Amino acid sequence: MTTESQAKSAATSDTTADTLTLRPMIADDLSAVLAIEQRCYSHPWREKTFADCLRAGYSCYVAMQQNVVKGYFVLLLVLDEAQLLNVCVDRDLHGRGYGYGLLTQLVATAQAAGANNIFLEVRKSNSPAIRLYEKFGFIEHGVRRGYYPLDGKRREDAVLMAMYC
Ligand SMILES: CC(C)(COP(=O)(O)OP(=O)(O)OC[C@H]1O[C@@H](n2cnc3c(N)ncnc32)[C@H](O)[C@@H]1OP(=O)(O)O)[C@@H](O)C(=O)NCCC(=O)NCCS
Repeated sequence: MTTESQAKSAATSDTTADTLTLRPMIADDLSAVLAIEQRCYSHPWREKTFADCLRAGYSCYVAMQQNVVKGYFVLLLVLDEAQLLNVCVDRDLHGRGYGYGLLTQLVATAQAAGANNIFLEVRKSNSPAIRLYEKFGFIEHGVRRGYYPLDGKRREDAVLMAMYC
C-alpha cells in the first residue's frame, strides 16, 4: 500500500535538478526561452538574438522538465574553444541546484564537441553566477571595463573567466 508520504514523494520526485533533460533548442522554444530571459536579466537578449544564434548554428540547448523549458544555454564552438554566450535557469528555481545541473551538462556538451577551453563574460555584480563558475574550476583571467549597460549612462565591468576541460 502506498502511504501518503510515499505518494507525495513520487509526485515531487520528477521536479529536482537531477531530472533536467537537455535537448537542442528549436524555434518553437523561443517564446518560453524569452519569457525566462525577461524574468531573469535586467538587460535581456531580444528574440532576434536567439533566432540569429539558432540560424548561425551555435550550440543552443534547452533544459526540459516535464515538457517545460526550465533553463537554456548558448555556446559558440570554434575548433577546441567554446564561448559561453548565455546560460540561464528560470527564476523561481534559483538556488536549488538547477544551475549546477545545467553547467554540468553544458561542460559535457562542450567536451563532447571537442572543446578544451570554455570562456565566458559575467557581470562583476553577478556573484551567484561567479560562485557557480568557480565551483566548476573557472578562473578569472581579466576584466573588460564598462562592458555591460547598467542604468542611465552607467556601465558595469565584465569579469572574463575561463576553464580548461
Ligand atoms: C547563475 C544561475 C544560472 C545559477 O543557477 P542556480 O540554479 O541558482 O544555481 P544552483 O542552485 O545550482 O547553485 C546554488 C548553489 O548551490 C551549489 N550547488 C548546487 N548543486 C550542487 C552540487 N550538486 N554540488 C555542489 N554544489 C552545488 C552551487 O554551486 C551554489 O553554491 P553557493 O550557495 O555557494 O552559491 C542563475 O542564478 C541564473 O539563471 N541567473 C540569471 C541568469 C544569469 O545571471 N546567468 C549567468 C550569466 S553570465
